[in-house]
Amino acid sequence: MYNNWEELEKSIINCKKCKLCTGRNNIVFGEGNKEADIMLIGEGPGADEDKQGLPFVGKAGQLMNKAFQGLGIDRNKVYIANVVKCRPPGNRVPESDEAKECLDYLRNQVILVKPKIIVLLGSTALKNILGNEYGITSSRGKWIEKNGILYMPTWHPAALLRDENKKIEFWKDLKEVVEKYKEIEKR
Ligand code: URA
Repeated sequence: MYNNWEELEKSIINCKKCKLCTGRNNIVFGEGNKEADIMLIGEGPGADEDKQGLPFVGKAGQLMNKAFQGLGIDRNKVYIANVVKCRPPGNRVPESDEAKECLDYLRNQVILVKPKIIVLLGSTALKNILGNEYGITSSRGKWIEKNGILYMPTWHPAALLRDENKKIEFWKDLKEVVEKYKEIEKR
């Protein structure tokens, strides 16, 4: 574990810990407010993210930004990262060895940001962070507290592009998050 961002960022530059390194154009480390109270964790970079080196900049990300904006939270107020930092080929789900190798970076990011709330975007984030016993359909929208952090599992924004009904639930979950954040801020 590194206790500063510079060392952590330096440690990942030439990462070859898993096979995803062979297909990447850019490592998508993470982006946002490094002292944010809210952290968002997705699955892994897609084509747009791989091209730009930034998380959630494609269609799904734009939809997510809109939802946050509508709730009065600017994207640069939160910190955004993914379970894996390199694009899985064809946007497939990261394999367990890939996620395992990459999770130390994410854990280190969580330790440095010290968020009060973590939004888990989709099943891959939920299972890798909280455990395989959790399912996204039954867990979404429900707070889970662990080691002093409040977790809110919700749909992955890409799922909203495929199923309109999920948009309403996603919005509801983010609203919960923003309300909790405001409540915490007041304390
Ligand atoms: N999907 C993710 O899970 N993460 C991104 O950064 C982009 C799309």
